[in-house]
Amino acid sequence: MTNFSTIYRLSVVAVICLIQACSSSCPVLECWFVQEKAGRGGGLTAATSQEKSLLFVRTDADSAETQKAPSDINPDRVYFLTDTAGTLCHPSLNPPEGSVTKPLCEINPFLPHLSTLKWVAPLTDSALSPIYLQADWFSTALQGLNEQLTVSSITRAPTATKEHHVILSVTSKTVSVQARLGEPVMLDCGFWADPSSPLSGSGFAVEWRYQFRGDGRLVLAYDGKSDRLADTQEEGATLDFEGLHEKGNASLILQKAKVRHSGMYICTVYLPYIVAQVTMELEIVEPPSLSLHPSPLPLVVPGQTLTIQCEASGFAPLSLELGWEFKGADGKSRPLGSGSISGHRQAWDGTYSQTTRLELDTTTLDLGRGGELTCVAVHPGGTRQASVTLNIIGFSAPSIEDSMAMVGVALVLYGLIKFVSWTFSSSGSDEADKQNKKDK
Ligand SMILES: *[C@@H]1O[C@H](CO)[C@@H](O)[C@H](O)[C@H]1NC(C)=O
Repeated sequence: MTNFSTIYRLSVVAVICLIQACSSSCPVLECWFVQEKAGRGGGLTAATSQEKSLLFVRTDADSAETQKAPSDINPDRVYFLTDTAGTLCHPSLNPPEGSVTKPLCEINPFLPHLSTLKWVAPLTDSALSPIYLQADWFSTALQGLNEQLTVSSITRAPTATKEHHVILSVTSKTVSVQARLGEPVMLDCGFWADPSSPLSGSGFAVEWRYQFRGDGRLVLAYDGKSDRLADTQEEGATLDFEGLHEKGNASLILQKAKVRHSGMYICTVYLPYIVAQVTMELEIVEPPSLSLHPSPLPLVVPGQTLTIQCEASGFAPLSLELGWEFKGADGKSRPLGSGSISGHRQAWDGTYSQTTRLELDTTTLDLGRGGELTCVAVHPGGTRQASVTLNIIGFSAPSIEDSMAMVGVALVLYGLIKFVSWTFSSSGSDEADKQNKKDK
């Protein structure tokens, strides 16, 4: 009897675990519910309120819930979100339990509206039943862990219910991109529209905008309904139109990365009355090329001061550390400081250049016979080095080999003197011996 109940209990536990494991592929997201405060009109800046909220994500509206909302969350702010496409079930939005970093999530109430933009207006040409639009609409912005994914979704729930459905999702997997100058760049953007929604199937529009330090421009705008690109298109920027219509692939392709492409990009996808957008960052990173003047170096006599320049050019962004190193005959490198660094200049292509000048005083620095002089440039795109050979003639301080040679010469001389003096003194004692013998 006890055995049976134990087995029974264990199997119940196992089943619960299984259900939890199955449903855990879609996350339960902790979000900030942010909205404008009601009844606070008059001010220019709308006051906003933030409330903690919980979002149970699932791919199927019928799937059962297994978790309870924490007590610090207002039960009115607990929502159930059905995402048929499963976009929000990406692993980066569902970290293992107890994980310190959490995906970012913000929910805002959303009002469907008409757009007057030239490439969007045609979408709402045909009047739509307003009953569908009369519902609770949310805009949810999500950021996965490790910059793997950013998602923005427009969801709809019948008025005063908490059962939301994703109607439009826009995603990007290139949240932060680095590219070298002249390379082709792909900024990922994809969208999914719920095919069962009356808003899908009547066309879409895609817009790419660029933003950098308050400066913005339209990169590209495409009206997918009439298959037309806006005139303001930037040179070398394009979309894969086939992929866009077939798979919702709205990725932007920049054929040749330029310095002026560094900045923030916003991919916006419009359906009639609704819109969602994701932002991503592109940085063009190009390490410098170095050149040394004069090169080769002239011969230097001790006491002479040598001036040498190192020019770093063609780099971006403007973040560079220049320095000098000297490697003597002993093979050891030592730093010679940064020299005097000039201000930077910007070339026509937006890349920078900067110069450092080194005054090499051969009397105060112990440089021996010379060695290798290296200019080192440390840049986010990589470290670059350029070297020249430094020859000092008529060196004043003897090197190790020279000292050894001198010791050698001294030893030979000493030996010679010793030998000569011994020869003389021994011949002297011979004569003294003979003298002694004669005396006897
Ligand atoms: C979208 O299109 C770009 C450019 O053709 C391509 O590199 C990328 O792999 C496509 N993405 C998907 C998810 O198909």
